[in-house]
Amino acid sequence: MISTVTLNREGDIAIMRIDNPPVNALSPATVRDMDATFRAFESDAATRALLIECAGRTFIAGGDISVFDDPSFSPAPLNALLDRIEASERPVIAILHGTVLGGGLEVAMAAHHRIAAPGTRIGMPEITLGLVPGSLGTQRLPRLAGLATAFELISTGRPIEVERALEAGIVDAIAENPQAAARDAAHRLAAQPARLRRASRIEVPDAAELPAVLADAARLAASKPHQPAYAEIGPCLAAACGDHAAGAAVEASAFARLIPSAPARALRHVFLADRRAQRIPGLPEATESRPVAQVGILGVGTMGGAIAMAFANAGFAVTLVETSQDALDRGLGIVARNYAASVKRGRLSEAEAAERQARMTGHADMAALADADLVVEAVFEDMELKLDVAAKLGAVCKPGAIIATNTSTLDVDRIAAATGRPTDVLGTHFFSPAHVMRLLEVVRGRNTAPDVLATVMRIARRNGKTAVVSGVCYGFIGNRMAEVYMRESEAMQLEGASPADIDGVAEDPALWGMAMGPSRMLDMAGVDVGARTVIEWIKSGEGPQDPSYRILCRTMFEEGLHGQKTGAGYYRYEGREALPNPALGDLAGRLAAGHGVSRRAPLPREEMLERLLFPMINEAATILSEGIALRPSDIDVVWTAGYGFPAWRGGPLFMADEIGLGRIVARMDHYAAILGNARGYWNVAPLLRQLASTGARISDWTSTGEEA
Ligand SMILES: NC(=O)c1ccc[n+]([C@@H]2O[C@H](COP(=O)([O-])OP(=O)(O)OC[C@H]3O[C@@H](n4cnc5c(N)ncnc54)[C@H](O)[C@@H]3O)[C@@H](O)[C@H]2O)c1
Repeated sequence: MISTVTLNREGDIAIMRIDNPPVNALSPATVRDMDATFRAFESDAATRALLIECAGRTFIAGGDISVFDDPSFSPAPLNALLDRIEASERPVIAILHGTVLGGGLEVAMAAHHRIAAPGTRIGMPEITLGLVPGSLGTQRLPRLAGLATAFELISTGRPIEVERALEAGIVDAIAENPQAAARDAAHRLAAQPARLRRASRIEVPDAAELPAVLADAARLAASKPHQPAYAEIGPCLAAACGDHAAGAAVEASAFARLIPSAPARALRHVFLADRRAQRIPGLPEATESRPVAQVGILGVGTMGGAIAMAFANAGFAVTLVETSQDALDRGLGIVARNYAASVKRGRLSEAEAAERQARMTGHADMAALADADLVVEAVFEDMELKLDVAAKLGAVCKPGAIIATNTSTLDVDRIAAATGRPTDVLGTHFFSPAHVMRLLEVVRGRNTAPDVLATVMRIARRNGKTAVVSGVCYGFIGNRMAEVYMRESEAMQLEGASPADIDGVAEDPALWGMAMGPSRMLDMAGVDVGARTVIEWIKSGEGPQDPSYRILCRTMFEEGLHGQKTGAGYYRYEGREALPNPALGDLAGRLAAGHGVSRRAPLPREEMLERLLFPMINEAATILSEGIALRPSDIDVVWTAGYGFPAWRGGPLFMADEIGLGRIVARMDHYAAILGNARGYWNVAPLLRQLASTGARISDWTSTGEEA
């Protein structure tokens, strides 16, 4: 096997070089190779110092987290190696560049001296994986940088710029030519071996701050009682103020407890799922992209304007087209206001905002799209209009240009056919606000060309989006599942539950932990927007022909209860504060009477949870068996990236496996029995029933043979 680590000699200096693309992640194999290389250095008395450096674009940017699920994984071999490195009598110098994260920073801190290239970023992202650092990071970092800085890095997971790291004492120097600076340092330090700084032997500089830091840590842990990693930070930092070996033992036991914990498993799952979503079975990685420099946007309303921003922010030149100069001015006005808001919030400088806006040009004539390499259509959600503009785009766009539709509900294949060049067409379902929301559903049509799909997936990444491929169906992956969630939320309101009762269950981290419950979400997105979609769906004949189906939001729409924008919806708003809306309770009562729904005593919280969550999981099983989603983990990505599903629960299907499919099926059957199932809402998806009967996990399900 080829080693990922080599040892070279340059005169009397030895150089350990780690070359494990793409980001030099630490894997057990890399650790073994580093160990062997360090042994070779130890036994070569002719060299006076060791430099540790990495090939490629970054120093070690973390660990290979896929091995954390292996029960035999242990950080002990790395930790023992780091102690040996630190104990070396000859100086060891780490040369840092790129992103020095997690295990990378732990390796660097075991060295006696750290020299970084300008632009290096340094961080401890373990908390985002439900962990604390496990290779002495909780021990060496506070000794080098102090408790307050260590607490900040470990508890937020956010990297800091190298200048701050220098100030904090995490790195010793920033050098334009870190290689040369490291060689100078090597000679200097080798001349004074007695003065080598060993992080584990340094006293924590701000030990007097311990009570204050522990109080902050305790407050943070109390605010996240279902994410146990937060509760481990304080004790680890406290231990760093004492004996190193004892501190190391405290960290080791915390890490060992956390690694198999459900939140850590869930967060690893989501991390790997995000990356997996980029891979499309049957589409080779080598598929060439179509060149895209010029992007066109047709329809500059709420979505079009924000989509234009998403592209301009990523450096694309954007041509915006509206029906008239007035409409264009309105659209560009929205864009300008959005940028001004970003400047006001300090997210962008005035100059950056101006530069981005300067990438946009507006026109009131579709002919302006003739030069675009990719056009995103975001006109009103109306099939006749979409077919009409699709035909025009098919004619106006240059050969090879990609045509994307931002429809949320309409048949992408019909729109594609109308262009006369369906291989160039797909759906790009952005979420609102499109320049902020991370999720993008990329809707692959029946005829979408492979290079069109590959191009849009790559551009999405460049735009900072998390793209997930969906097949063509009503609502695609996310909104199709949200539909059954909303259905049950409204059904329970007719039965007597309040929006706050239901949102309270969805948002309760002890039960679930959604960022926003269904009613709060719809109030924010606009009850009118949601209701119009439902009304059209029913009208098309495809939606449920059930007079009581989502009758609450349909009636709220008619009565002008459109949510936050009208000051009243499921809640009544005073400023931003959501208060109970008695009118809504009255309305639900009237609708219940009119539709023969019997009102019940307060609904049990467990019932509310199950009726929101289980139909979604059931719908997901159908989405999988229809091939709409490529794999179970893509569904988890959609919900964690786009709907505020807590990543530490892993997404709906990871959570389904944690609950147990057998239980979910039994409860679906139970609700069919007690609520009645005339409309088939409680029919269990055949795939779900089959998996439950064999004791299989839905997360492991695959239709393609690809490893789940
Ligand atoms: N609003 C959302 O939350 C959301 C989310 C995802 C997807 N979508 C989808 O995005 C699309 C646009 O939605 P929106 O909310 O931005 O609508 P919107 O009403 O805010 O904007 C639509 C714009 O299209 C323009 N337009 C209409 N016909 C046109 C034509 N022939 N040529 C050029 N421009 C034309 C209109 O003048 C208007 O400015 C719809 O397909 C919608 O379903 C909306």
